[in-house]
Amino acid sequence: MPKNNSKFYITTPIYYANAEPHIGSAYTTIAADCLARFNRLIGKEVFFLTGTDEHGAKIEAKAKEVDKESQEFVNEIAAKFQFAWDELNISYNNFIRTTNPKHIKAVQAALVKMYEKGDIYKGEYKGLYCRGCEQFKSEKDLVDGLCPDHKVAPELMSEESYIFRASRYAEIILEKIKKDELKIRPRERRNEIISFYEKEGLADVSFSRKKVKWGIALPWDKSHTTYVWADAFLNYLTGLGWQGPGDKMPHFWPPTLQLMSKDILRVHATIWPAMLLSLDLPLPEELFIHGFFLVDGQKMSKSLGNVISPFDLIKRYGVDASRYLLMGAAVFGRDGDISWEKLDEKYNAYLANGLGNLVARSIALTQRMLKQNLNLDKDTELKESFLKAWTSYVDSLENLKIDAAISLINQQIGVLDNYITKHKPWELVKAADQRVGKIMYNILESLRHLSFMVWPFMPETTNKILHILGLDYQKECALNFNELKEWGRLSQDIKINKEGPLFPRIEEK
Ligand code: MSP
Repeated sequence: MPKNNSKFYITTPIYYANAEPHIGSAYTTIAADCLARFNRLIGKEVFFLTGTDEHGAKIEAKAKEVDKESQEFVNEIAAKFQFAWDELNISYNNFIRTTNPKHIKAVQAALVKMYEKGDIYKGEYKGLYCRGCEQFKSEKDLVDGLCPDHKVAPELMSEESYIFRASRYAEIILEKIKKDELKIRPRERRNEIISFYEKEGLADVSFSRKKVKWGIALPWDKSHTTYVWADAFLNYLTGLGWQGPGDKMPHFWPPTLQLMSKDILRVHATIWPAMLLSLDLPLPEELFIHGFFLVDGQKMSKSLGNVISPFDLIKRYGVDASRYLLMGAAVFGRDGDISWEKLDEKYNAYLANGLGNLVARSIALTQRMLKQNLNLDKDTELKESFLKAWTSYVDSLENLKIDAAISLINQQIGVLDNYITKHKPWELVKAADQRVGKIMYNILESLRHLSFMVWPFMPETTNKILHILGLDYQKECALNFNELKEWGRLSQDIKINKEGPLFPRIEEK
């Protein structure tokens, strides 16, 4: 898509390389992809970063458990993530791995700067640590003495450590959050963070571990490795090619939007901005916190055997439909609950009987019409409806209302279904009535518009619909946004191409 002047830099968390991708990490990544694609569609200059977080105690232990060298282990998992994202048609611009030597060098340089500045000092760290979260916990975070996410008692850590003077930046960060200079959405998440700052304040953080060998060594004291979060956060910079303090600020810095779920909001709203302030770099513009997915009302876990992999979805619904179903499964920003039954139901209702059936019906009607030597005839009856739909569509996606954009698409499919029912074009074809030319033009031109509305969610479907309409995908994608949503671009002399059903019906599970 051609560019306009504004930049859009979007990130996902980098996922721990201790387990294979599942629909939780797929959800964030697909959401980021839809938003990246939408921003490309409207002409922004987009950079989309994702990757894997490969150091730390948790991964070290997991590699040992399966009797592998840590590096070999993370290589395999990172490849699985990349494979999954490629299968899901994720259009990332870079996939960053924290074991990449360039990343390691930049992290070391950043820590040296912070150390020399006096923001990192040597001390004795005492605190509770949850290895599952790779995070320090206060008593207040625990429920019955256990980490609420991992249901295990955190270990008491007491060791010599280099400590990051995060407390120094507490006031500035809080003020920036309050002024929305560092926007946190949804609003309740912002309030939660503000109240955390006001009640608990920002304590200094242990930034190194002596006992963990699988990590980045501190350049000035190699008996310590870097705390995994300090290492991980800098991916958002090194993923853009940043080589460390002194290097010029990357073109795309700062991030426009950082997506994540609530499990890692607090660290992103405390340690991360504090590190940036220490490094004299601008803070991200926005952190958006989407909900958590449950499966049949329960947290996904290996022991419950309810982990759904993205491949399970792809096998059942195909790539595009999997993306669409996941994005439509929850209000973006709220928790969601999925089950195969619900997914099947939605697939059949919105895709097989919805968009798929609409396209199939329209094509069959057009072919019958052309056979009768009746021609398409440019008309504008549905122009207004699509003009309005585009405005709401852009508004929804600019405000990150992904599910609302999907509802809008479904609504427009309904508009077309009703239009067909109302005008009964098959009767006009039968009667060789040329008035059908205008009706079918409205329908086909609407399909062209719909094909672009679904593009951020289902790019292959766009390709297929355009092909059916005799249009060239590459050429159409080179149009700028105003051109492509102009009513009447579709020629009257199109040649319809054949395609199999877009979304074959499936038997419900
Ligand atoms: N490695 C850290 C992040 C470092 S970023 C500097 C990490 N990794 S993680 O693998 O645990 O990923 C957590 C993120 O995965 C969540 O914040 C969310 O984006 C996504 N999800 C994991 N499980 C999820 C659900 N069940 N539902 C929704 N999102 C989920 O934390």
